[in-house]
Amino acid sequence: MKSSSVCIVCSDQARTQQAHELARWTGLPVLDKKSADFALQLCFETDRVMLYDTMLNTSIHVDFVSGALAHRRQFGGGRDQAIAKAVGLKHGRRPNVLDITAGLCRDAYVLASLGCKLFLVEQSPVVYTLIEDGIRRGQSDTACAEILKNFISWINADAIEYMRSINSNSRPDVIYIDPMYPDRKKSALVKKDMQILQRLLPKDQYDDELLTTALDCAAERVVVKRPLHAPALGDVQADTSISSKKTRFDVYLVKNNQ
Ligand SMILES: C[S@@+](CC[C@H](N)C(=O)[O-])C[C@H]1O[C@@H](n2cnc3c(N)ncnc32)[C@H](O)[C@@H]1O
Repeated sequence: MKSSSVCIVCSDQARTQQAHELARWTGLPVLDKKSADFALQLCFETDRVMLYDTMLNTSIHVDFVSGALAHRRQFGGGRDQAIAKAVGLKHGRRPNVLDITAGLCRDAYVLASLGCKLFLVEQSPVVYTLIEDGIRRGQSDTACAEILKNFISWINADAIEYMRSINSNSRPDVIYIDPMYPDRKKSALVKKDMQILQRLLPKDQYDDELLTTALDCAAERVVVKRPLHAPALGDVQADTSISSKKTRFDVYLVKNNQ
Protein backbone atom coordinates (compact mmCIF):
# COMPACT_ATOMS: atom_id res chain seq x y z
CA MET A 1 0.00 0.00 0.00
CA LYS A 2 1.39 3.41 -1.00
CA SER A 3 1.06 5.89 1.87
CA SER A 4 -0.80 8.31 -0.43
CA SER A 5 -3.05 5.86 -2.33
CA VAL A 6 -6.65 7.07 -2.43
CA CYS A 7 -9.97 5.43 -3.26
CA ILE A 8 -13.66 6.26 -3.00
CA VAL A 9 -15.88 4.01 -0.88
CA CYS A 10 -19.64 4.20 -1.36
CA SER A 11 -21.72 2.23 1.10
CA ASP A 12 -24.94 4.21 0.53
CA GLN A 13 -26.86 3.40 -2.64
CA ALA A 14 -28.46 6.82 -2.68
CA ARG A 15 -25.02 8.36 -3.14
CA THR A 16 -23.69 6.01 -5.83
CA GLN A 17 -24.20 8.53 -8.61
CA GLN A 18 -22.34 11.25 -6.71
CA ALA A 19 -19.48 8.85 -5.92
CA HIS A 20 -19.20 7.72 -9.56
CA GLU A 21 -19.26 11.28 -10.87
CA LEU A 22 -16.33 12.10 -8.60
CA ALA A 23 -14.56 8.93 -9.77
CA ARG A 24 -14.95 9.95 -13.43
CA TRP A 25 -13.64 13.42 -12.65
CA THR A 26 -10.66 12.29 -10.54
CA GLY A 27 -9.86 8.84 -11.92
CA LEU A 28 -10.06 7.37 -8.38
CA PRO A 29 -11.38 3.78 -8.04
CA VAL A 30 -14.78 3.22 -6.36
CA LEU A 31 -15.23 0.34 -3.89
CA ASP A 32 -18.35 -0.70 -2.02
CA LYS A 33 -16.53 -1.24 1.27
CA LYS A 34 -13.32 -0.11 2.96
CA SER A 35 -10.13 -1.87 1.86
CA ALA A 36 -6.77 -2.07 3.62
CA ASP A 37 -5.15 -1.63 0.18
CA PHE A 38 -5.70 2.11 0.21
CA ALA A 39 -4.15 4.54 2.67
CA LEU A 40 -6.91 7.12 2.25
CA GLN A 41 -10.56 6.37 1.57
CA LEU A 42 -13.18 8.98 0.78
CA CYS A 43 -16.28 7.38 2.26
CA PHE A 44 -19.78 8.34 1.09
CA GLU A 45 -21.90 7.29 4.04
CA THR A 46 -25.59 7.88 4.67
CA ASP A 47 -25.14 10.85 7.00
CA ARG A 48 -21.85 12.34 5.78
CA VAL A 49 -18.79 12.14 3.56
CA MET A 50 -15.54 11.57 5.40
CA LEU A 51 -11.90 10.94 4.57
CA TYR A 52 -10.66 7.86 6.41
CA ASP A 53 -6.94 7.31 7.03
CA THR A 54 -6.13 3.59 7.24
CA MET A 55 -2.77 4.11 8.96
CA LEU A 56 -4.04 6.49 11.62
CA ASN A 57 -7.37 4.64 11.86
CA THR A 58 -9.21 7.93 12.08
CA SER A 59 -11.18 10.16 9.74
CA ILE A 60 -11.87 13.81 9.01
CA HIS A 61 -14.96 15.55 7.74
CA VAL A 62 -16.17 19.15 7.59
CA ASP A 63 -18.33 19.80 10.62
CA PHE A 64 -19.91 23.18 11.28
CA VAL A 65 -22.67 21.91 13.52
CA SER A 66 -20.92 20.23 16.46
CA GLY A 67 -17.43 19.94 17.93
CA ALA A 68 -14.76 22.62 17.94
CA LEU A 69 -16.45 25.02 15.51
CA ALA A 70 -19.76 25.01 17.35
CA HIS A 71 -17.90 25.66 20.60
CA ARG A 72 -15.89 28.48 19.04
CA ARG A 73 -19.05 30.03 17.57
CA GLN A 74 -20.48 30.36 21.08
CA PHE A 75 -17.37 31.12 23.15
CA GLY A 76 -14.72 32.14 20.61
CA GLY A 77 -13.98 35.72 21.60
CA GLY A 78 -15.63 37.58 18.70
CA ARG A 79 -13.81 40.49 17.14
CA ASP A 80 -10.96 40.18 19.68
CA GLN A 81 -9.71 36.99 18.04
CA ALA A 82 -6.35 37.39 16.29
CA ILE A 83 -7.77 36.24 12.95
CA ALA A 84 -10.50 38.89 13.14
CA LYS A 85 -7.99 41.66 13.84
CA ALA A 86 -5.74 40.35 11.06
CA VAL A 87 -8.43 40.67 8.37
CA GLY A 88 -9.24 44.18 9.63
CA LEU A 89 -12.63 43.43 11.14
CA LYS A 90 -13.86 46.35 13.24
CA HIS A 91 -17.13 47.67 14.53
CA GLY A 92 -19.10 48.54 11.41
CA ARG A 93 -16.42 47.16 9.09
CA ARG A 94 -16.72 43.58 7.86
CA PRO A 95 -14.43 43.06 4.88
CA ASN A 96 -15.22 40.40 2.31
CA VAL A 97 -12.60 37.67 2.30
CA LEU A 98 -11.37 35.37 -0.45
CA ASP A 99 -10.02 32.27 1.33
CA ILE A 100 -7.82 30.67 -1.31
CA THR A 101 -6.83 27.65 0.81
CA ALA A 102 -10.25 26.64 2.13
CA GLY A 103 -9.31 23.16 3.47
CA LEU A 104 -11.76 22.08 6.15
CA CYS A 105 -13.16 25.65 6.26
CA ARG A 106 -12.58 26.22 9.95
CA ASP A 107 -11.00 29.64 9.54
CA ALA A 108 -13.58 30.61 6.93
CA TYR A 109 -16.41 29.65 9.26
CA VAL A 110 -14.96 31.71 12.12
CA LEU A 111 -14.81 34.77 9.85
CA ALA A 112 -18.31 34.09 8.49
CA SER A 113 -19.63 33.84 12.05
CA LEU A 114 -18.24 37.35 12.64
CA GLY A 115 -20.15 38.68 9.64
CA CYS A 116 -17.56 38.63 6.83
CA LYS A 117 -18.68 37.48 3.38
CA LEU A 118 -16.55 34.51 2.32
CA PHE A 119 -15.49 33.30 -1.13
CA LEU A 120 -13.77 29.92 -0.93
CA VAL A 121 -11.31 28.22 -3.26
CA GLU A 122 -10.02 24.67 -2.78
CA GLN A 123 -7.84 22.87 -5.30
CA SER A 124 -8.33 19.27 -4.18
CA PRO A 125 -11.49 17.55 -5.51
CA VAL A 126 -11.42 15.23 -2.47
CA VAL A 127 -11.27 18.10 0.04
CA TYR A 128 -13.82 20.04 -2.02
CA THR A 129 -16.22 17.07 -1.73
CA LEU A 130 -15.83 17.26 2.07
CA ILE A 131 -16.58 21.00 1.95
CA GLU A 132 -19.72 20.58 -0.16
CA ASP A 133 -20.96 17.85 2.17
CA GLY A 134 -20.22 19.91 5.31
CA ILE A 135 -22.08 22.91 3.90
CA ARG A 136 -25.06 20.72 2.92
CA ARG A 137 -25.30 19.32 6.47
CA GLY A 138 -24.70 22.73 8.04
CA GLN A 139 -27.54 24.26 6.04
CA SER A 140 -30.05 21.99 7.77
CA ASP A 141 -29.09 23.34 11.21
CA THR A 142 -30.77 26.68 11.96
CA ALA A 143 -27.89 28.42 13.80
CA CYS A 144 -25.33 27.16 11.31
CA ALA A 145 -27.40 28.01 8.26
CA GLU A 146 -27.56 31.62 9.43
CA ILE A 147 -23.73 31.79 9.37
CA LEU A 148 -23.38 29.80 6.17
CA LYS A 149 -25.42 32.50 4.40
CA ASN A 150 -22.12 34.40 4.52
CA PHE A 151 -20.47 31.73 2.37
CA ILE A 152 -21.16 33.40 -0.96
CA SER A 153 -19.36 30.93 -3.21
CA TRP A 154 -17.14 27.84 -3.02
CA ILE A 155 -15.28 26.49 -5.99
CA ASN A 156 -12.88 23.68 -6.81
CA ALA A 157 -10.01 25.41 -8.60
CA ASP A 158 -6.37 26.28 -8.39
CA ALA A 159 -6.15 29.56 -6.50
CA ILE A 160 -3.42 31.06 -8.65
CA GLU A 161 -5.45 30.61 -11.84
CA TYR A 162 -8.57 31.80 -10.05
CA MET A 163 -6.93 35.00 -8.74
CA ARG A 164 -5.53 35.76 -12.20
CA SER A 165 -9.06 35.57 -13.59
CA ILE A 166 -10.46 38.21 -11.20
CA ASN A 167 -10.97 41.52 -12.90
CA SER A 168 -9.88 44.73 -11.25
CA ASN A 169 -13.47 45.84 -10.51
CA SER A 170 -14.22 42.79 -8.39
CA ARG A 171 -11.19 42.51 -6.17
CA PRO A 172 -11.85 40.96 -2.73
CA ASP A 173 -11.05 43.29 0.20
CA VAL A 174 -8.89 40.59 1.82
CA ILE A 175 -7.20 37.42 0.57
CA TYR A 176 -6.56 34.82 3.26
CA ILE A 177 -3.88 32.12 2.89
CA ASP A 178 -3.26 29.16 5.21
CA PRO A 179 -0.46 27.24 3.45
CA MET A 180 -0.30 23.50 3.60
CA TYR A 181 3.30 22.96 4.71
CA PRO A 182 4.26 25.53 7.27
CA ASP A 183 7.87 24.28 7.77
CA ARG A 184 7.22 22.40 10.99
CA LYS A 185 10.26 20.50 12.19
CA LYS A 186 8.47 18.34 14.75
CA SER A 187 5.78 16.17 13.17
CA ALA A 188 4.27 15.66 16.64
CA LEU A 189 3.14 19.26 16.37
CA VAL A 190 1.09 18.47 13.28
CA LYS A 191 -2.44 17.56 14.31
CA LYS A 192 -3.97 14.35 12.97
CA ASP A 193 -6.34 16.13 10.61
CA MET A 194 -3.42 17.99 9.04
CA GLN A 195 -1.41 14.75 8.83
CA ILE A 196 -4.27 13.29 6.79
CA LEU A 197 -4.38 16.31 4.49
CA GLN A 198 -0.61 16.18 4.09
CA ARG A 199 -0.81 12.54 3.03
CA LEU A 200 -3.51 13.43 0.51
CA LEU A 201 -1.97 16.51 -1.04
CA PRO A 202 1.22 16.85 -3.07
CA LYS A 203 4.16 18.49 -1.38
CA ASP A 204 4.90 20.55 -4.45
CA GLN A 205 2.68 23.49 -3.56
CA TYR A 206 3.29 26.96 -4.90
CA ASP A 207 2.88 28.74 -1.60
CA ASP A 208 5.24 31.64 -2.42
CA GLU A 209 3.40 32.23 -5.69
CA LEU A 210 0.10 32.19 -3.83
CA LEU A 211 1.37 35.18 -1.86
CA THR A 212 2.79 37.15 -4.79
CA THR A 213 -0.37 36.59 -6.86
CA ALA A 214 -2.58 37.53 -3.88
CA LEU A 215 -0.61 40.76 -3.37
CA ASP A 216 -1.54 41.75 -6.95
CA CYS A 217 -5.17 40.73 -6.56
CA ALA A 218 -6.47 41.86 -3.13
CA ALA A 219 -7.95 45.33 -2.80
CA GLU A 220 -6.73 46.04 0.73
CA ARG A 221 -4.74 43.29 2.40
CA VAL A 222 -3.41 39.75 2.32
CA VAL A 223 -3.28 37.69 5.50
CA VAL A 224 -1.04 34.62 5.82
CA LYS A 225 -1.46 32.19 8.72
CA ARG A 226 1.83 30.82 10.07
CA PRO A 227 3.01 28.83 13.09
CA LEU A 228 4.16 31.31 15.75
CA HIS A 229 7.91 31.10 15.05
CA ALA A 230 7.96 30.14 11.36
CA PRO A 231 9.67 32.44 8.85
CA ALA A 232 7.45 34.67 6.72
CA LEU A 233 6.05 33.00 3.60
CA GLY A 234 8.57 33.34 0.75
CA ASP A 235 10.64 35.46 3.19
CA VAL A 236 8.46 38.43 2.22
CA GLN A 237 8.27 40.60 5.33
CA ALA A 238 4.78 41.54 6.45
CA ASP A 239 3.66 45.07 7.33
CA THR A 240 2.44 43.82 10.67
CA SER A 241 1.75 40.54 12.47
CA ILE A 242 -0.89 39.57 14.98
CA SER A 243 -0.18 36.57 17.17
CA SER A 244 -2.20 34.19 19.26
CA LYS A 245 -0.89 31.35 21.43
CA LYS A 246 0.43 29.12 18.64
CA THR A 247 -0.33 31.05 15.48
CA ARG A 248 0.85 34.21 13.80
CA PHE A 249 -1.11 36.10 11.16
CA ASP A 250 1.16 38.08 8.83
CA VAL A 251 -0.66 41.05 7.35
CA TYR A 252 0.42 42.61 4.03
CA LEU A 253 -1.24 45.91 3.22
CA VAL A 254 -1.85 46.67 -0.46
CA LYS A 255 -3.48 49.50 -2.35
CA ASN A 256 -4.82 47.87 -5.49
CA ASN A 257 -8.19 49.58 -5.36
CA GLN A 258 -6.98 53.11 -6.13
C1 LIG B 1 -3.73 24.01 5.74
S1 LIG B 1 -5.12 23.67 4.72
C2 LIG B 1 -6.21 25.00 5.08
C3 LIG B 1 -6.99 24.80 6.34
C4 LIG B 1 -8.09 25.83 6.48
N1 LIG B 1 -7.56 27.16 6.70
C5 LIG B 1 -9.06 25.46 7.59
O1 LIG B 1 -9.37 26.34 8.42
O2 LIG B 1 -9.53 24.32 7.61
C6 LIG B 1 -4.57 24.14 3.14
C7 LIG B 1 -5.57 23.85 2.02
O3 LIG B 1 -5.21 24.67 0.92
C8 LIG B 1 -5.41 23.96 -0.27
N2 LIG B 1 -4.54 24.56 -1.29
C9 LIG B 1 -3.18 24.58 -1.32
N3 LIG B 1 -2.74 25.18 -2.44
C10 LIG B 1 -3.85 25.59 -3.12
C11 LIG B 1 -4.04 26.25 -4.36
N4 LIG B 1 -3.02 26.62 -5.13
N5 LIG B 1 -5.31 26.50 -4.75
C12 LIG B 1 -6.37 26.14 -3.98
N6 LIG B 1 -6.25 25.46 -2.82
C13 LIG B 1 -5.00 25.20 -2.38
C14 LIG B 1 -5.00 22.55 0.08
O4 LIG B 1 -5.56 21.61 -0.85
C15 LIG B 1 -5.55 22.40 1.50
O5 LIG B 1 -6.85 21.87 1.50
